[in-house]
Amino acid sequence: MSSFAVIRPARHLAGSLRLPGDKSISHRYAMLAGLADGSSRLENFATGADCASTLGCMEALGCTISREGEGAGGPMAVAVQGQGMRLRMPETALDCGNSGSTMRMLSGILVGQQFRAELRGDASLSRRPMARILQPLRAMGAEISAAAHDRPPLCIRGEPLRAIDYTLPVASAQVKSCLMFAGLFAAGESCIAEPVRTRDHGELALRAFGAEIEAAGPNRWRVRGGQRLRPIHAQIPGDLSTAAFFLAAAALIPDSNLVFDNLLLNPTRAALLDVLRGLGLQITVLHLEERHGELVGAIQARYGELRGATIAGALSAALIDELPVLAAIAPYSQEGIQIRDARELRVKESDRIASVAANLRAMGAEVEEFEDGLRVPGRQSLHGAELRAFDDHRIAMAFAIASLRAQGESRIAGAETARISFPDFFSTLEGIVQR
Ligand code: S3P
Repeated sequence: MSSFAVIRPARHLAGSLRLPGDKSISHRYAMLAGLADGSSRLENFATGADCASTLGCMEALGCTISREGEGAGGPMAVAVQGQGMRLRMPETALDCGNSGSTMRMLSGILVGQQFRAELRGDASLSRRPMARILQPLRAMGAEISAAAHDRPPLCIRGEPLRAIDYTLPVASAQVKSCLMFAGLFAAGESCIAEPVRTRDHGELALRAFGAEIEAAGPNRWRVRGGQRLRPIHAQIPGDLSTAAFFLAAAALIPDSNLVFDNLLLNPTRAALLDVLRGLGLQITVLHLEERHGELVGAIQARYGELRGATIAGALSAALIDELPVLAAIAPYSQEGIQIRDARELRVKESDRIASVAANLRAMGAEVEEFEDGLRVPGRQSLHGAELRAFDDHRIAMAFAIASLRAQGESRIAGAETARISFPDFFSTLEGIVQR
């Protein structure tokens, strides 16, 4: 069932936000908790459907999971009973829903089990490329097959694994984590390297659960097989990629002033803050601490006139989930925003380059589309329009933000897809918008 969100222009935004736990961390903690020797408690777990898919898969693999506060609009906590590295054979195919993270990272665990399992996804996930995990996992000795063109569903049969020395051809934190997880089950020591630095939640989570992960050079890591994991009690920091929408809104709407508490500030994710600061947003760090290796803090964000930016190279990889909202606010900037080296956007939940360009054009904006990015000139004036979510949560949320400064009202079809990462997105936005 498809629903519309109606977004009217905002005068300014004000308020204080404490967001549900980071999606990348929640997936990894849930998987590693399922492997640990004992029971883990994960507070402020992500409330989106993607992490619920991971929890559902871990339950199907024999882990007992209890949830507190689920669907209540407040924080959610989960307790996961770990199975000590050996999961149970699932009775039916594992349903990864819309979640590429679930499918790719869980594959790294399933190759180390002693049974056969099938991983399926929804229509969008079934179009996403899996060769990036198939090739290195097969090189480790895994028996893993996919449908035509290396797309899901995947069939995995656990086999004895050998260690691998592998450099990822495409920057992907999901693939890096997948291979590190597989490395835990391999005979010997695996080395995994990445072309540019991507988010390091896999490395930090493995250490938090007691595994040794050594740096073996720049962007290169060593993982020894046969390690066991100990359970943890964690308070997961708020999702910075969800905060990105509200931060972009504060950068867009004059006189805005927002405070974020318990927010993930991991340096491999925080490039967003540097770019927004460069664009004009005034950001003050109010508090900073470390939890399980992750930097967490409170920040205040105040409007400052949007200048312009060029985002390319390693920066595009570091900002991959935030590029849609940055492109969506670009027409209102002074100098425009150019994004290059972001070809990966084409194989996300939608082709995000095409989705962003289509919605911006529907709002009357001029946009130049490249194979690997977009150029959005500045000083444009946009009108409200009939917009589409393209079955992509980040597109729905990005255009809710762009609509706040348009002339007139916008309607976003399929906006309910925001539930994939943040079910309370629209009510949270309404709670801080003043008209
Ligand atoms: C993620 C990595 C990124 C990102 C995704 C989450 C992760 O994907 O787009 O939303 O948690 O590792 P890729 O690894 O495909 O770049």
